[in-house]
Amino acid sequence: MFERCDVWELSEDNPWHPIIEWYARAVKAMQDRNGTNFSDPTSWRYLAEIHGTSIPRSNWPQGATWQECQHSSWFFLPWHRIYLHYFERIVRQTIVDLDGPDDWALPYWDYSDLQRPNVRRLPPAFREPKMPSGDDNPLFVSQRSQSDPDINQGDELDTFDVDIGAATAERSFTGPTVGRIAGFGGPVTGWSHSGGAVGSLEATPHGNVHMGVGGFQPPGLMSRFETAGQDPIFWLHHANIDRLWEGWLGLGDGRANLTDARWLDMRYKIGGGASEVTLTVGEVLDTTQPPLSYHYTRISIPVPGPDTVLAAGPDAESVFAEGGPVPEDIFPEMVGASESTVPLETKPTEVGVPVEAPSGPALTERAEGGQPRKVFLKVENVRGNELAAPNYLVHVNLPPEADPAEQEDRRAGQVSMFGVLEASEADEEHSGSGLTFSFDITGVVQRLREAGDWDPEHLRVTFTPIRPGSEQLGDVSVGRVSLFYA
Ligand code: C2O
Repeated sequence: MFERCDVWELSEDNPWHPIIEWYARAVKAMQDRNGTNFSDPTSWRYLAEIHGTSIPRSNWPQGATWQECQHSSWFFLPWHRIYLHYFERIVRQTIVDLDGPDDWALPYWDYSDLQRPNVRRLPPAFREPKMPSGDDNPLFVSQRSQSDPDINQGDELDTFDVDIGAATAERSFTGPTVGRIAGFGGPVTGWSHSGGAVGSLEATPHGNVHMGVGGFQPPGLMSRFETAGQDPIFWLHHANIDRLWEGWLGLGDGRANLTDARWLDMRYKIGGGASEVTLTVGEVLDTTQPPLSYHYTRISIPVPGPDTVLAAGPDAESVFAEGGPVPEDIFPEMVGASESTVPLETKPTEVGVPVEAPSGPALTERAEGGQPRKVFLKVENVRGNELAAPNYLVHVNLPPEADPAEQEDRRAGQVSMFGVLEASEADEEHSGSGLTFSFDITGVVQRLREAGDWDPEHLRVTFTPIRPGSEQLGDVSVGRVSLFYA
């Protein structure tokens, strides 16, 4: 059994802990295999191009399956798990070939523990231009965020970027297909490279950390699908996302992998040549079994906050029938939508959403005993070609003049810009309709009702940029903000 360790625990012991140093040496060896067209399936760039590439298809090596990363999809987590497995085996073999240990496993970057502020910094070995030997350090990448945070100078990621609360509060791996609500792991899709509804873990912390490390003016390697895998920290970030999947399952309370054959039987081939792997989703759900055979030194994660631990309100009638996974039989009904597109700029934007009483499926729910069981907010068709900020906080019914950072009770979630540029380009693979984010705001609405701040006919939604750019740039907009009852 291979053990995936916490990179910050290793670094605090020794910034060049053998696990980190062997990784660096292997990265260098794999980069040396790049050649001119990256045709060696064990070369650094071949591996990165599997995730995304800007190389035209006609120039791909024979048989290459590149540009395959699964995003905005219930395959996001399993696809990246298989991808990491392929990568980890190649790194391990490379280390063995360098006369290193035969049990190397990918460390993970757990950036979310607010009690350990250091962990929001890039681990030291990834920021040093030189190795202790004086050689160039292959873990160092200059194309990273250079201001706010200056990530290679050891600045911390924003606490919002590493927030796992919203994702882990989700009880359902995927959401109801009707209404295209994403859930924890992403919406039901076929093969899905880019564009569509983003699962809550994929949005935050996943997307935020990509943008926080890569930056956005200009976008560094971590900020684009076609370059992210070239930054050695990418793999440690994804080991953590993979770990959070395990941690989420461990929280219980209905959280579970899916049993749908369309999910379990989906098969992905990754890589080429002797090292190629082909695995189904069903074959990678138990990481401790072959062929994966790894475990994490720590998988427990904190029990998520206010959205699941709702204080019973004094007004019993306002209590939603909450708890447990989103029932599969619910049919969310749209009860309100904004009227025009909403710009996402360097300053906060508020949008009004007129709300009507439900007339369809959600009405039936009400007739059977009161309130809708669930309330969802959707931020649809986020698109643009130039970003003004790496991510936005989304609040509902913010009091006038309030500092959004202090209004956690009214935060619906976050919108991360990772993938927006890709999802805005129309080409043969996707329509360019952007990314859609969905938030279960049942708990927020309940709190607003209790505070007397819920108007059933009008909702206000505020987008607040986090660490926006210094200049007023950007053309990103939200196509529509909508409210659903189920
Ligand atoms: Cu396929 Cu973190 O991205």
